[in-house]
Amino acid sequence: PLVSMRQLLDHAAEQGYGIPAFNVNNLEQVQAVMSAAHEVGAPVILQASAGARKYAGENFIKHLIQAAIETWPHIPLVMHQDHGQSPDVCQGAIDLGFSSVMMDGSLQADGKTIASYDYNVEVTRKVVDMAHKLGVTVEGELGCLGSLETMKGDKEDGHGTDATMTVEQLLTDPEEAADFVKRTQLDALAIAIGTSHGAYKFTRKPTGDILAIKRIKEINARIPNTHLVMHGSSSVPQDLLAEIRKYGGDMKETYGVPVSEIQEAIKFGVRKINIDTDIRLAMTAAIRKFFVENPGKFDPREYLKPATAAAKSICKQRYVEFGCEGQA
Ligand code: G3H
Ligand code: 13P
Ligand code: NA
Ligand code: ZN
Repeated sequence: PLVSMRQLLDHAAEQGYGIPAFNVNNLEQVQAVMSAAHEVGAPVILQASAGARKYAGENFIKHLIQAAIETWPHIPLVMHQDHGQSPDVCQGAIDLGFSSVMMDGSLQADGKTIASYDYNVEVTRKVVDMAHKLGVTVEGELGCLGSLETMKGDKEDGHGTDATMTVEQLLTDPEEAADFVKRTQLDALAIAIGTSHGAYKFTRKPTGDILAIKRIKEINARIPNTHLVMHGSSSVPQDLLAEIRKYGGDMKETYGVPVSEIQEAIKFGVRKINIDTDIRLAMTAAIRKFFVENPGKFDPREYLKPATAAAKSICKQRYVEFGCEGQA
């Protein structure tokens, strides 16, 4: 059934596990996540970005998720709006039937410019007011995503940053986080610890200087009762990169967030772990391989089948690694 995210995250906190939140855009990704969850007995967070709603169309996103609920009625499922850029976007998602919304007020409504703290508090509080009346969960974000390594010229999603900002200012500040939670009353807080969206997070295996797991411990010590969320948490598996290259793809050397670091973060209050890129890589690797090995085939069902299987395999791994097995 459709449940609120609050319900799932509270259970995860009680039992000490984390839930991967997978981005979905189409039928194959929804089926991959759901069948993986079914096989391991995991609860599900399906999240749709603004881009997903635009790609598939609002009605298709809504009914794809509705179809998942009808097909797997025993699995508790959250339908979550990822990176809502304004209270209006969040209101639209709620009207569409989403049970959880992210108000990302760390950036202004253009999705590019770093917003002031007061703006973030104001828009997040506004969404909490409208959502909580309807039993809808709210995730907010404080701090700016971006690889600490390249951050001097990077902010959320790699747009050039304001040169006056230091790396420290972009990470989530524990004191400010405590004030933010108090003033907004949100349910879950996305924090910035040096990760970024996409495949190119780090040019070397991340260590503590560029992936600030220590910061999570400090934030958790200050707000132990707030569910923490990690964005940009794909692990960018080297075997998938190798497969993409082997079958004609062009991927530069890159590293993601190691699963072991996420497991450490789960010990310190991280309950929702956002993953999109790993699914993209898995599907692309499978499709490239299929086309190279089967140049004469042209039925989309034939190449989407191994792509769905590859996505499902990644989802199953993450469910097990984050402790979701048997929790649904
Ligand atoms: O927020 C980042 C997610 O990976 C969604 O990506 O905006 O391309 O759908 P998207
Ligand atoms: P990745 O690009 O690391 O998969 O992150 C996805 C994300 O944070 C979606 O909000
Ligand atoms: Na942000
Ligand atoms: Zn994100």
